[in-house]
Amino acid sequence: MKNHQLKLLSGFLLLLGIHGNLFAQYEAKIDSLLRIMTLEEKVGQMNQYNGFWEATGTSPSSGDAKVKYEHLKKGRVGAMLNVRGAENVRALQEFVVKESRLGIPLIFGLDVIHGHKTLAPIPLAEAASWDLKAIEQSARMSAIESSAVGINWTFAPMVDITRDARWGRVMEGAGEDTYLGAKIGVARVRGFQGEDLSAPNTIAATAKHFAGYGFAEAGRDYNTVDIGTSTLYNIILPPFKAAVENNVRTVMNSFNVINGIPSTANAFLQRDILKGEWGFDGFVVSDWGSGAEMIDHGFARDTVDVAVLAANAGSDMDMESYAYVRHLKRMVEEGKVDIAYVDDAVRRILRVKYELGLMDDPYRYCDPEREKELLYHPDHMATVLDVAKKSIVLLKNEKGFLPLEKHQKKIAVIGPLAADKTSPLGNWRIGSDDGTAVSVLEGLSKYTENYTYSKGPDFVVGPIEFALEAKINETDTTGFAEAIRVAGASEVVIMVLGEHGIQSGEGRSRARLDLPGLQQELLEAVYAVNPNIVLVLMNGRPLAITWADEHLPAIVEAWHLGSQSGNAIAAVLFGDYNPSGKLPMTFPRSVGQVPIYYNPYNTGRPGPKDEVFWSHYTDESNKPLYPFGYGLSYTHFEYSGIHVDASNPKAVKVQVTVKNTGKVAGEEVAQLYIRDRVASVVRPVKELKGFEKFALAPGESKTVEFVLTDAELGFYDNSGKFVVEPGEFDVMVGGSSEGGLVGKFELQ
Ligand code: BGC
Repeated sequence: MKNHQLKLLSGFLLLLGIHGNLFAQYEAKIDSLLRIMTLEEKVGQMNQYNGFWEATGTSPSSGDAKVKYEHLKKGRVGAMLNVRGAENVRALQEFVVKESRLGIPLIFGLDVIHGHKTLAPIPLAEAASWDLKAIEQSARMSAIESSAVGINWTFAPMVDITRDARWGRVMEGAGEDTYLGAKIGVARVRGFQGEDLSAPNTIAATAKHFAGYGFAEAGRDYNTVDIGTSTLYNIILPPFKAAVENNVRTVMNSFNVINGIPSTANAFLQRDILKGEWGFDGFVVSDWGSGAEMIDHGFARDTVDVAVLAANAGSDMDMESYAYVRHLKRMVEEGKVDIAYVDDAVRRILRVKYELGLMDDPYRYCDPEREKELLYHPDHMATVLDVAKKSIVLLKNEKGFLPLEKHQKKIAVIGPLAADKTSPLGNWRIGSDDGTAVSVLEGLSKYTENYTYSKGPDFVVGPIEFALEAKINETDTTGFAEAIRVAGASEVVIMVLGEHGIQSGEGRSRARLDLPGLQQELLEAVYAVNPNIVLVLMNGRPLAITWADEHLPAIVEAWHLGSQSGNAIAAVLFGDYNPSGKLPMTFPRSVGQVPIYYNPYNTGRPGPKDEVFWSHYTDESNKPLYPFGYGLSYTHFEYSGIHVDASNPKAVKVQVTVKNTGKVAGEEVAQLYIRDRVASVVRPVKELKGFEKFALAPGESKTVEFVLTDAELGFYDNSGKFVVEPGEFDVMVGGSSEGGLVGKFELQ
């Protein structure tokens, strides 16, 4: 049911006196508040500041912090970010509640992206699990821990679809596919927000970045976005819409310009689509300083202009641009911004404060006892171990090279990342502690003592801090000789290579997608003495590891798996967990293929042909290294008997039988793709429209049924209208976006 329909329904029920409608109660209270708020106080609710001092310490006497402090006292701040710790949050909340005229509590936001102290895999890795329950559970865990430190609002999930592995923030989303991305976004929203937002262990979620941020040109962060309407409506917007339909309470706009207009001042996106068509009734927060960045974009003259443009376009809360707090009051008084827009923004912000329960009890998220009890709770460790195992993708396994036999082989373990207890935590982990990941070596030790570790050359040079780029060792070969010696004296080599945890994330775009530093050289040198290598990859984005794929018998994609990293990896290497992950993003053969994704349009010259004039490269195949949806298992799944029943065009049924034909139990993700053969707007060569993950014992089989409704069979035309057109469809079902069983049907 659509949001506006829900509202109509709840109004109707209220009239009948059937339920004590919270929504209406809040609205009445908000009306009363709006009546007594001054314009300055209203604008104050629309202002968000970054944390600036240990709130329990003495108050600042000078500088920026002093100004913020004064503003808090005057009710000129509606929310804070980056203040955390039950006592800190309480102190600041108390200050505002007691000192400001109306005592309206603050919301406390933080980027809780994949956990607070206990870390789950980075979001891209989790997406590889295709396990919506596990992903929801992981977000639940994040909400429980972060709410225990006073946080009641996370700037997650990032639901930006991206097709560009160069973009550093691929690690933060669910990859390249809209259908999968929308499902995962919804699972995360549910996990964060739970059933009852006012419970002390649930937090408001944010669908970000609205919109198009993942399509930054050339994968360079913050870069321009210029896309057509079909991509906007069919690829970029649906995950946001799904989040809104599932009651996400806030939406963050984005740094980028989209088709010439910065998102922060984009009335078409924020007013027409989000709040208009979709009926979103939460609030929109700007990205950090994205308002002020419109000056650099050449869209606003100064911060006065920023305040006018952003407020008129529906950006409700200004994060750290200082534009609203400084100028919005005057702009309303001068008639440049309609007071109705301000009232609407404040209403939305207060609504979320009511829903969070802050207006009843501003301190409900500030219990130091809960904080002590819940951080690094064993239940959370179990949750993140479960999802970490499910996130691993087996990319190659020639002749059953894996799993390794327990306690038998003489193993060499090579690479600094194998001993690293920080890098596997990944990026975007503001609250976490360095050195708290289980390393690969620690994980392996639980299975065997029969290994020798050789670090090889250092990976990162100098200090590693969040605000710095990782300085990768490109020259110092110390450690090569020892690694080669150890490898030569072993039966099997586990090489742990990839990217450092802070090589992906915001501001960490890369122009190369190879193994950074000296790692490729090391890999080839070790291979020369012992080719029995399992490559364990740690990375925050798809990498072009074509050489490794051509030469090595086994490759395990282990991403940055969080606190339980080493335990999850060892469980897979030794066969205690049969890998079940599938790639949420295409792996290219070389960086020149990027953007490469599974669902492009067909060209007029698709080929392949034996001549020059078809759509191809002269020096590289069109094929990816590993396609979207791909991932192996220690067992084998056979698909048979595709059956399509299109007698009811509103519910086309597709059935297949999947059998575990191997010797061990395993989990498979059956994926359904469609192709609309002829349409009024060209459709992609395939589109994911259904998936199911299930476990099968050896020899066991299961019939999987998918039902395709209008929602799956239709698309948005170039005016943004959702249409379902009759005609022929192909349907493909298998364990990857490539191959699979093929069926056909005609929609009447
Ligand atoms: C990021 C957002 C984040 C915000 C607050 C920005 O730089 O783009 O995703 O939520 O900072 O930390």
